[in-house]
Amino acid sequence: MNEIWKIPIEKLSYQIAEFAINNSENLEEFRIQFLGSKNVIKPLFSEISKIPNENKKEYGQLLNQLKLQAEEKFDQHKSFAKSSVQKEIPDLTLPGQNDNVGSRHPITLVMDKIISIFSKIGFQIAEDREIEDDWHNFTALNTPEDHPARDMQDTFYVKNRKDIVLRTHTSSVQARFMTTHKPPIRILAPGRVFRNETISARSHCQFHQVEGLYIDKNVSMADLKQTLLFFAKEMFGKDVKIRLRPSYFPFTEPSAEMDIYWGLKDETDHRITKGTGWLEILGCGMVDPAVLENCGIDSKVYSGFAFGMGIERQAMLLYKIPDIRYYFENDLRFLRQFKNS
Ligand code: DAH
Repeated sequence: MNEIWKIPIEKLSYQIAEFAINNSENLEEFRIQFLGSKNVIKPLFSEISKIPNENKKEYGQLLNQLKLQAEEKFDQHKSFAKSSVQKEIPDLTLPGQNDNVGSRHPITLVMDKIISIFSKIGFQIAEDREIEDDWHNFTALNTPEDHPARDMQDTFYVKNRKDIVLRTHTSSVQARFMTTHKPPIRILAPGRVFRNETISARSHCQFHQVEGLYIDKNVSMADLKQTLLFFAKEMFGKDVKIRLRPSYFPFTEPSAEMDIYWGLKDETDHRITKGTGWLEILGCGMVDPAVLENCGIDSKVYSGFAFGMGIERQAMLLYKIPDIRYYFENDLRFLRQFKNS
């Protein structure tokens, strides 16, 4: 027969065993009820005086067991409750979260395209500094201090320094590379350049260029022309027409500018080709022997060609961008349009 004094203990033992703990709230309820400072086991301890003497010992043992049972259950579920919260099954019917992937800048897109075209014919990338000394930017390139050609480029000088400039063109990389490498040289130098120009829809004080340089024995003007024709076809399509117009640059002789035939289809206000259909995209020429000598290359043995092109203008054509200032404002509404390019 069950002793009557055991009943409250058995009742609580049953309650502890049956208490469902499925989350951290349940666990906390359990703790308050069976282990907290006002737990339901505590009062049973003070009942001991009412228990018959011969049962007191067993009563105490059973109560201790009951406490232990509660503690054990709590401990078991302590970790279970935490991990079950983490392991909650996600709601698979919720709409997915799109990763907000950025897009590449149109200048980068065009530069990468130019680089990949020239890398097919063996040109390697050469990058160099944007803050340049006067010698590499001008003097080595046949443009000494009193040379009128310096006026062609409105130069930013570093404060209180007459000999340090923000490079006005990536041609400076030619001088850097030729003084440190021996021919044959076949490099492409992409980068940012700076000129003190009034900012408008068509010009900016910073822009990007890609410079090309090829030095070897017996390099001729015909090599230059074929290289540029190859580039133009890859860049603008195989039906593109090009023309070379005589021009002047201090570092090349002879010098030329290359136009591509763009046609009049985009000619809304005569701004793109000025009504001719022809559009200038780069300057080029045979490297002046004096430049080779300045940079320590024997001009009796070696010859070469060079070219330099602006990136902003080409990107404007390819993506129909009406204003150069868009490139530098980082307006997301502009940048996001190149996501799939
Ligand atoms: N550096 C010239 C400019 O910024 C562009 C240029 C013209 C580069 C002729 C060349 C070249 O290498 O041969 O306007």
